[in-house]
Amino acid sequence: MNRDQEVLILAIESSCDETAAAVVKNGREVLSNIISSQIDLHTLYGGVVPEIASRKHIEKINQVIEAALAEAGLSLNDMDAIGVTYGPGLVGALLVGVAEAKAIAYAAGKPLIGVHHIEGHIAANFIEHKELEPPFFSLVVSGGHTHLVRVRDYGKFDIIGRTRDDAAGEAFDKVARAIGLGYPGGPKIDRVAKEGNPDAVAFPRAHVEDSPYDFSFSGVKSAVLNYINGCRMKGEDYCQADVAASFQKAVTDVLVANAMHAVEEYGVDKFAIAGGVASNSALREAMRKACGEKGVEFYYPSPVYCTDNAAMIGAAAYYEYKNGTRHGWDLNAVPNLKLGER
Ligand code: KG4
Ligand code: ZN
Repeated sequence: MNRDQEVLILAIESSCDETAAAVVKNGREVLSNIISSQIDLHTLYGGVVPEIASRKHIEKINQVIEAALAEAGLSLNDMDAIGVTYGPGLVGALLVGVAEAKAIAYAAGKPLIGVHHIEGHIAANFIEHKELEPPFFSLVVSGGHTHLVRVRDYGKFDIIGRTRDDAAGEAFDKVARAIGLGYPGGPKIDRVAKEGNPDAVAFPRAHVEDSPYDFSFSGVKSAVLNYINGCRMKGEDYCQADVAASFQKAVTDVLVANAMHAVEEYGVDKFAIAGGVASNSALREAMRKACGEKGVEFYYPSPVYCTDNAAMIGAAAYYEYKNGTRHGWDLNAVPNLKLGER
């Protein structure tokens, strides 16, 4: 492919607690991927503090963008467009990225492309799986979202199922805090669960009545809290690893069951998982097995592309660019942006 056909995108992500910038070529090739995580800071408070997140994004964003361009060995003038997450997420955090992207795009005379954060998570799968093309199904499981999505085409989505209460990652984070593992809970539960017995405690698998694709995780979270409180009241110790493993199994069982239900009903032949919880080893293994049994091709991103990053935003922005999406200087942060909305 010669330079005329190359599309280079500088992408920016600041929807939660990572300040990130990346340079992505033709939606699939990551030339740089810089992530400045605020996790250590928020760990002091046991979760993300929105006001602190916004302030840290402001401090870091210029450095992160400069580092992304430097690592790619390119300048702003080489870019074909600026992509930025404009929702959903924390409004103050999103605003930092959106304002920065608008300023850069305006100053450099480049098109501006607002990207939906979930569209970015799904597009993370394109980076390492060059052969993956729509249509396919995706399960997006992160700290803020649990969506079962039909990807009809690039940038064209139908939400088939969603959580009615807590997101999967939120449940991991809350349970981890309750059993003394701290924040962020997902990776810690994943690690501790390897030492535990997933059948030790029978936590509930919630199925939403009349809605086979929806999820509910507040019940399993409460069941864990009740279990450990019950143990404490009886003066008994509980096994942290067994509780972690049993909780993780309860969550992954439901995620996989609903995903496989969709596979059967919709005749799916390709399935991609995405979002922070997609790096969970038990979920990957269970999905790999279930997809294998049904002859479905299974895809997942490397952990660095599962949790928030800007490379995935660059991948999604490329397909939006190709579809003709261009945003004006009035682009705003939309904290509750719906997937598929413009
Ligand atoms: O995608 P992400 O970085 O942010 C959102 O868009 O929400 O996801 C963060 C979430 C957190 O809840 C974190 O605990 C969870 O992903 N997570 C995991 C794992 N790694 C991150 N959950 C389970 N197992 C993991 N290995
Ligand atoms: Zn995310």
